[in-house]
Amino acid sequence: MKKRVLSGIQPSGNLHIGNYFGMIKRMIEYQESSDLFLFVANLHSLTTLSDAKELKKLTLDVATDLLALGVDPDRCYFWVQSDVPETTELAWILSCLTPMGLMERAHSYKDKIAKGVQPSLGLFNYPSLMAADILINQADVVPVGKDQKQHLEMARDMAVKFNKVFGETLKVPEHEIPDDIAVIPGTDGQKMSKSYGNTIPIFAEDAVIKKAVMGIVTDSKGIDEPKEPEGNTIYELYKLMADPAETKVMADQFKKGGLGYGDAKKILLEKIQKTFAPYREKHQELKNHPKKVETILAKGAEKVRILSHQTMLMVREATGLKY
Ligand code: ADP
Ligand code: TRP
Repeated sequence: MKKRVLSGIQPSGNLHIGNYFGMIKRMIEYQESSDLFLFVANLHSLTTLSDAKELKKLTLDVATDLLALGVDPDRCYFWVQSDVPETTELAWILSCLTPMGLMERAHSYKDKIAKGVQPSLGLFNYPSLMAADILINQADVVPVGKDQKQHLEMARDMAVKFNKVFGETLKVPEHEIPDDIAVIPGTDGQKMSKSYGNTIPIFAEDAVIKKAVMGIVTDSKGIDEPKEPEGNTIYELYKLMADPAETKVMADQFKKGGLGYGDAKKILLEKIQKTFAPYREKHQELKNHPKKVETILAKGAEKVRILSHQTMLMVREATGLKY
């Protein structure tokens, strides 16, 4: 049987190259080898967003972006979290099994509070909902980044506890967190992230992408000076998209001297445009037909609900909720 690989992405803005090379590309590759479960985590977004129009827009936008990038609804499970309300039922049940102490130790909750976010009960309970996303689909593998590692461990703890208290019901997801995922640098050299305003968006207008690429921060070495390619943002981004021969050419030119940062940025920009051109066409087509996206999401929810429903039958039986 194929492994079930599951991940969720919060609808929180336009996808950028860091999202693509850090997560989405891998997810799309999983469609070949595994049963992929991918969803838009709009209920999680409610912990930080309370603007209905904005949430609707962001949800459709991220779904459109993912479909354009190659998520194939016929070969995977692709849906919006809130379209499977059983998930929140399981989240409640899990929260009843989870000691306060465990929840209080959640880094992401503590970090948000440290940043001055007014904590809501929803934010506190974020890990229970995330655990429910995973456990309701009996996922084998959840390839998350380091920031989500603790949440995944909490999901495992909750599954183990459930099985201990109510009998073997939920699959304990594999404790496999790939830590070899490269952190993709943003235009200022630190991790590319919406929150740092240093992103290169995938589906923005050409002029916006150009401005981002040409704005990549470099040192002030002149054209003829030799430069170290490793750790240089232009080179690190180029390497993600260029073939090995092209990568070597850029590395050699940098080392030898003679390649200025301005020209290197132009080469990178061209590579980005070429890499994402086919996706941009598909993106435009979906943008022109938003109903298509809505239909895909509705069908996706229907398909995955069959599985969630099966899990919930077992959970209701095991807990005594089915009387
Ligand atoms: P952002 O930091 O822009 O808010 P998210 O936290 O929404 O991005 O990330 C969504 C997914 O993309 C996560 O799986 C995350 O690990 C991945 N990701 C985001 N930025 C990067 C990056 N710079 N390098 C590698 N992966 C990234
Ligand atoms: N919390 C994750 C993030 O912010 C998104 C998410 C929600 C998720 N539910 C999940 C990821 C279940 C993996 C599995 O990136």
